[in-house]
Amino acid sequence: MVKPKDIDFYSLGFNFIETKTMFVSDYKDGKWDKGKLVPFGNFEISPASCVLNYGQGIFEGMKALKAKNGEITLFRPEENGKRFNFSAKRMLMPEYSLNKFLDAVKKVVKANEDYIPPYDSGGALYIRPILFGYGPILGVASTDEFKLIIYTVPVGPYFPEGFKGIDLEISKRYTRAAPGGTGSAKTICNYAGTMLPAKETKERGYAQILYLDAVMMEFIEEVGTANFFGIINNKLATPRKTGTILEGITRESILVLASKKLGLEIEERDISYEELFEDSCTEAFCTGTAAVITPIASVTLEGKQRVFNKREPGETTKKMYEILTSIQRLDIKDEFGWIVKV
Ligand SMILES: Cc1ncc(COP(=O)(O)O)c(C=O)c1O
Repeated sequence: MVKPKDIDFYSLGFNFIETKTMFVSDYKDGKWDKGKLVPFGNFEISPASCVLNYGQGIFEGMKALKAKNGEITLFRPEENGKRFNFSAKRMLMPEYSLNKFLDAVKKVVKANEDYIPPYDSGGALYIRPILFGYGPILGVASTDEFKLIIYTVPVGPYFPEGFKGIDLEISKRYTRAAPGGTGSAKTICNYAGTMLPAKETKERGYAQILYLDAVMMEFIEEVGTANFFGIINNKLATPRKTGTILEGITRESILVLASKKLGLEIEERDISYEELFEDSCTEAFCTGTAAVITPIASVTLEGKQRVFNKREPGETTKKMYEILTSIQRLDIKDEFGWIVKV
């Protein structure tokens, strides 16, 4: 394990670094145990476990930040707890009490406090809760033993480009989620299927895929790990919630900030990829816990490229980034009650 003093918090990427402590809770005989903090480490699992054979697993992603005054902040953690339970239900796994979830998250963060990057580094302690079918199974059905783990990793920006625009490729070959499927649940299976498309698009020089809907192959869904926004006809537009996109907590927050703080008209609707190639679309960005707000410099479909704003972050994108990160870092007043202090 790397000691905190040996970590260069100013040059972190989004890579795994082991921290000291994790939280573990087991579900057996129809109930959760009390759960406890233990040293981060490996554990045994049956080769017949449900998660290894059938992918019965979910996760969450959240961040703890250091404010200027040294306080540790979480951003809307109860929303992650609620989404965790939504995902658990979809994958036929037991829910975890919201209060216990928040308590466990705070305990793990506190125990790994030395790994939280300093305020001026722009980094964060990424918090990763996971829940999976632990017990052995043979037929395709749920197991009755589950394990919940919460661990942490110090991180820098998700996209190494930082607050510079990324280049996205619109795919007409791969889709991420279909109606009636598991797109809006944060299940591990949704992500395994995006690894090959992501690798291929990176080889072609793009940061990620911008996925289209699986039925018409026309409407924007989301980026591999972030939600999509565009400024179209001077309105802030984002794909509506159809059950196939992951309903991001950052997405929800951006919609509130855009209308309440910037007075923008917002639209949650079907957005055809063709709109991104028209002059009426002047800016685009994507949002997520890891991606924060990442400007989109260009989108490309089958060799045809649209560059936004000469590859520079647009005015609205910059303003949204400034407001969101200032709230998250306690630089301005949290008038929406989104911040929870550890
Ligand atoms: C597929 C996908 N879309 C969107 C998001 C953004 O969600 P949030 O803002 O809650 O982090 C994420 C990240 O969690 C994601 O994995």
